[in-house]
Amino acid sequence: MLITKLKGTNDLIGIEAYKYRFIQKKANEITKLYGIEEMITPIFEKTELFLRGVGETTDIVNKEMYSFQDKGGRDLTLRPEGTAAVSRAFVENKLYALPGLKKYSYFGPMFRYERPQAGRMRQFSQFGVEFLGNGSPYMDSEVISLASKFLKSLGINKFKVVINTIGNKESRSIYSNKLREYFAEHILEMCADCKSRLEKNPLRILDCKVDSKNAAICNAPSILDFLTQDDIVYFDKVKSSLEALDIKYEISNRLVRGLDYYTSTVFELIYDDPSSKIDGLTLLAGGRYNGLSSEIGGPDVEAIGFAAGIERLILVLDELHQFDNLNSACDVCIISIGEEQKNHCLKLADKLRDKGLYVEIDYVSFNLKPQFKLADRTNAKIIMIIGEEELVSGKVIVKNKIKNIEEVILESEIYNYIKGE
Ligand code: HAM
Repeated sequence: MLITKLKGTNDLIGIEAYKYRFIQKKANEITKLYGIEEMITPIFEKTELFLRGVGETTDIVNKEMYSFQDKGGRDLTLRPEGTAAVSRAFVENKLYALPGLKKYSYFGPMFRYERPQAGRMRQFSQFGVEFLGNGSPYMDSEVISLASKFLKSLGINKFKVVINTIGNKESRSIYSNKLREYFAEHILEMCADCKSRLEKNPLRILDCKVDSKNAAICNAPSILDFLTQDDIVYFDKVKSSLEALDIKYEISNRLVRGLDYYTSTVFELIYDDPSSKIDGLTLLAGGRYNGLSSEIGGPDVEAIGFAAGIERLILVLDELHQFDNLNSACDVCIISIGEEQKNHCLKLADKLRDKGLYVEIDYVSFNLKPQFKLADRTNAKIIMIIGEEELVSGKVIVKNKIKNIEEVILESEIYNYIKGE
């Protein structure tokens, strides 16, 4: 029986792999502008890292982790996200002892057991950025600005920046109590998960996927009414520096994010094109997570970051026809009229490739028809035909598909001829 790929995973073949690498290239370009170093962490970690880091009441930890025991009986998990792993590496390698702000990026696969649909995979990839070691609101706006520059560098301009603050520990605790009281009156009409969230973490009810349209959630008290003076001043500075950077934003007091490590500023960049099927798709998301380092055994470190979903970016780029004009046309396809010329053709192809040209050659056919088919399939700009006569004369027949002409030229001139196109 045929063995197929797992649900929610993808084979990236040819052009699809190209799209993935294209986004990675753009990510590398943007991180350079901010002096961000790359960090490559293991794909699996101790399960405890995510229990403590992401939070035991989150959907990710409760329902979506690929967890298993290895042969040594260790509890391990395929990473569902990158922030906890970067923070673990940051603490373990004592990077906090280095002077100044530390900026890291990562790019690679994450794993969540979710119901697959467009832009929601079980194995997906993220480009993430984490700034650690600074609690300035100006850093928040720089990180949001970086995120928006990244989307623009890909040619994505239709997106909205949605921000919120979930306050510090003090305001969140007052708000959580208020939410607990409020939801207690509505809990009977809510899903089983929300019922269990009521005591443990009522904030999570606000981002429930099942009950998202429930009136009780829509009318719940807003965190903005429970902020401390410090939170208000901080958030005002974030807003004013976003304005200084000309970044238009919306405030959504429902935006609480589905991971427990967040504090203060949270944000999402959401695709915004009402005419599109994927309007409203969150392309990237992030926020501050000042308590994460200490939660996993390190010192208190103030930090903020975001991660973008690569598969979602590809959906948008496909919709924008960004890859339609990808020209993978081959520079020259060499056709031999008989088998006797094959070695000569191989040698010529080799030489031209050494000079950086993309050359195609048919290994099995000596008839013209299949060799011309290869030229067509690879969109060859130049077709070079070599037979017995050409071998002796040192001249070749060239079909120039760009100029739509046929001419005879010296074989030794072929590179200059092609480059002169
Ligand atoms: P997140 O919101 O869970 O945050 O994921 C960030 C982005 O990853 C999402 O906006 C989406 O584009 C993509 N994503 C998430 N789940 C899937 C999925 N199942 N299939 C396809 N794409 C997906 C985090 O992961 C945080 N670590 C972000 C962060 C970094 N916060 C601070 N620093």
